[in-house]
Amino acid sequence: MKKRAFIIVLDSMGVGELPDAHLWHDEGSNTLGAIRNHENFYCPNLKKLGLFNIEGVGGGIDRPQGAVARAAELSMGKDTTTGHWEIAGLVSPQPMPTYPDGFPAEVIDEFEKRTGRKTLCNKPYSGTDVIRDYGREHVETGALIVYTSADSVFQIAAHEDVVPVPELYRYCEIAREILQGEHAVGRVIARPFTGEHPFTRTANRHDFSLIPPRDTMLDLLQKAGYDTLSVGKIFDIFAGKGVSEANRTSCNDEGMEITLKMQQREFEGLCFINLVDFDMKYGHRNDVPGYAAAMTAFDRQLGVFLENMRDDDILIITADHGCDPATPSTDHSREYIPVILAGKHVKQGINLGTRKSYADISATVLEYFGVDQENTAGESFLRETMSDAAFLPENAPTDRELMEAADRARRYSHTPYSHFRVGAALLTVDGEVFTGCNIENAAYGPTNCAERTAVFKAVSEGRTRFSKIAVVGGPEGGDLQFCSPCGICRQVLAEFCDKDFIIILGTPDDPHEYRLGDVLPFSFTKADLGQ
Ligand code: THU
Repeated sequence: MKKRAFIIVLDSMGVGELPDAHLWHDEGSNTLGAIRNHENFYCPNLKKLGLFNIEGVGGGIDRPQGAVARAAELSMGKDTTTGHWEIAGLVSPQPMPTYPDGFPAEVIDEFEKRTGRKTLCNKPYSGTDVIRDYGREHVETGALIVYTSADSVFQIAAHEDVVPVPELYRYCEIAREILQGEHAVGRVIARPFTGEHPFTRTANRHDFSLIPPRDTMLDLLQKAGYDTLSVGKIFDIFAGKGVSEANRTSCNDEGMEITLKMQQREFEGLCFINLVDFDMKYGHRNDVPGYAAAMTAFDRQLGVFLENMRDDDILIITADHGCDPATPSTDHSREYIPVILAGKHVKQGINLGTRKSYADISATVLEYFGVDQENTAGESFLRETMSDAAFLPENAPTDRELMEAADRARRYSHTPYSHFRVGAALLTVDGEVFTGCNIENAAYGPTNCAERTAVFKAVSEGRTRFSKIAVVGGPEGGDLQFCSPCGICRQVLAEFCDKDFIIILGTPDDPHEYRLGDVLPFSFTKADLGQ
C-alpha cells in the first residue's frame, strides 16, 4: 500500500496562550476560544476527532476518533514562516529581524548601489498610506519606495509606469540577496501600484520568501523519493525548497477542493496544505462571526475528506500560530497549536497532552515514512498513537490474502456435529501468519473455534503480538457467509491484543475490517485483577 500523509494547517487557529505570551503582548489570546461559542460555529467532525479533548481546550467527548495534543512553539516568532518551518522540523531560535526605525544604511546603500535607484520612506508604514504620501515623489524622481511593517518584511512600492513589474521583481531579488544572515527578513515584497494620486495597488504583488537555511522534513522526504505536494501558500513559505508540486489557491474552499482531488490521485508521500482565510480574512480583521463560519465550512469539507481516507493515509490537522479575532490586537498571537492525528490505524482516544515543539509533527511524519530525521527537530509521537497494524512489514499479506488463507484452513475443520466449517488466519506484528480451524467434540462443550486454534498455535510457538485476524465460515459444501467471532474468542483475542487489533470479516472478495475494541468493549482484562 502506498503511504500518504496530509497535513492541513488552519492558518492562525491557535488553542490558547503560550506560557511566554506576555513577552509578545498576547496574554489571554485564545483563537479557538474566541470563536467556538459563536452561533456560526458548528464543527461536528473536528469534535468527533477530539479538538475539544486537547489539553486546556475543554468540552471534550468520550471516545474521540483521533489522537490529540497541543504543541508549543520553540522558535522565537509568531509568524507564518516560522510556524510552518517549525512544523517541518526547523526551529528558529533567533526572531526574524524587524525594523521599527527603518533599515540600516549598510542595507539601503547596497540596495541603491545595485539597483541604481535612490530610495524613499524607509520606515514602517501602511501600504495604502505609503503610496499616497510618497507616490508623487516616486513618480517624479524614479526613487523606490522602501518600507516595512511590524513584521519581518522589506517592501518595495513602485508605479507600474515608472518601474515595469519585471524590473520591480528584479529589484526584489537583489534585495533578497542582500537581506541574508543578520538581516534575513522573512519576506521581500513587491508592491506595484498604478493610476493617479492617491494611486491604487495592483494585483501584481509578489512575495520573495527566505529560503529555509537547513533541510526540513520536505527535503528529507523528497530525497527519500517521496512526493511532496503543496496546496495554498506552502510552496512560497518554503521558497519552493523540498516541494515537488505547487498548487496555489485563492481561498479556503478552493484549497479543500484541491485537497479532496489530491486524495483521489495516486501519490506516495506528503500533501501539505495551508488554509489562509482564517488568518488573512478573519483573524487580522477581528471578524469573529466570519472566522466561526469559515471553520464550519472547513468542517463540512473535512467530513468528505474523512470518508475518503484510505487505509494507509494519515491526516494531521494543525495551525502555525494564533490570531485571536476577539482581542483588540489585529496581529498574530503567541499560542499553542492544535495537533489532531486521524487515520485508520490511529488508536482512538489517545491524548498526548502538551508537546514541546511544533516540530513533533515533522518527526512523526518522517517516522511514518521510515525516513531518518537527520538534523531536524522534534520527537515523534507515532508509536504511541498508531496501532501495530500500521507497522507491518512491506511484504505482509493483504486482507484478501489473509481471508484466502483462512478459507484454506477450513479444509481441516472437524465438524461432524454442526457441519459448519470456520477458518481463521492470524497475522503477527512481524507479518507471520498462523491459521486455525474449528475442532468439534462429541461432548460439544470442549469444541474449539477456529480463531482460538490459530491464537493457541501462535502463542504455543512464542508469538504473542498480533495485528489482524481474518475469519471465514460457512456450511459444509455451501457458500461462505459472514461469520463473526464468538464471545469466548473475542475474550481470548483481548488477552493478547489491544482495542485497535483488526478483525477481518466477510468473504475474500469483500473483506471488512472491525476493531476489537468495537466488537468487545469493556472486556475483562488483567487490569480487573489488579495486575
Ligand atoms: N465457530 C468458530 O470456529 N468460530 C466462531 O467464531 C463461531 C463458531 C465454530 C464452532 C463450531 O464448531 C461451529 O462454528 C458452530 O458453532
